[in-house]
Amino acid sequence: MNTIKKNIHLTTASSAQTHSFGKRIASCLKPGTVISLNGILGSGKTTLTKGIVQGLFKKRGVKVKSPSFTLVNQYEGTPPVYHVDCYRLNGEDDMRMIGIDELIDSPGISIIEWGEKIKTLLPPKTVWIMITHRGESKRKFVVSSDNTLFLRKLRRSLRV
Ligand SMILES: Nc1ncnc2c1ncn2[C@@H]1O[C@H](COP(=O)(O)OP(=O)(O)O)[C@@H](O)[C@H]1O
Ligand SMILES: [Mg+2]
Repeated sequence: MNTIKKNIHLTTASSAQTHSFGKRIASCLKPGTVISLNGILGSGKTTLTKGIVQGLFKKRGVKVKSPSFTLVNQYEGTPPVYHVDCYRLNGEDDMRMIGIDELIDSPGISIIEWGEKIKTLLPPKTVWIMITHRGESKRKFVVSSDNTLFLRKLRRSLRV
């Protein structure tokens, strides 16, 4: 039987709503999941990541900073979270140098800004999130993945 894989579309009207969306995503994640966030600068990749990390670490107040310069930020927990930014990287060799293979093979959750730059390195069940501007404070999110279990959970959580 073929499973119908439908993308999830969602528009937020503020960064607070994007943050809440991130928390919903967090509630559907299993250890080892890789999320690739794509969209131009200022689209909300880091804002969404903050919501995801907040959702994963519920009580602990974790301060998420953009890894634009550090390339990878790690948040210790069960599972740990790796927040990666590929913006400044030139190609997949650079990514190999920072040990992307170990990150995505680990039981940690990896959130990768500009993941499409290294798409051939990412696992088949990567969760892809494309973000586009829909005005000053509106952002459209399209979530797609071969990870049908995740999509199903997210759809249920968002009631869409
Ligand atoms: N609906 C929205 N969702 C996310 N960010 C928004 C939204 N509306 C406005 N913003 C603003 O857009 C910017 C997004 O920045 P950031 O999350 O760092 O983007 P990126 O990591 O994609 O470069 C922030 O200044 C945020 O306040
Ligand atoms: Mg960013």
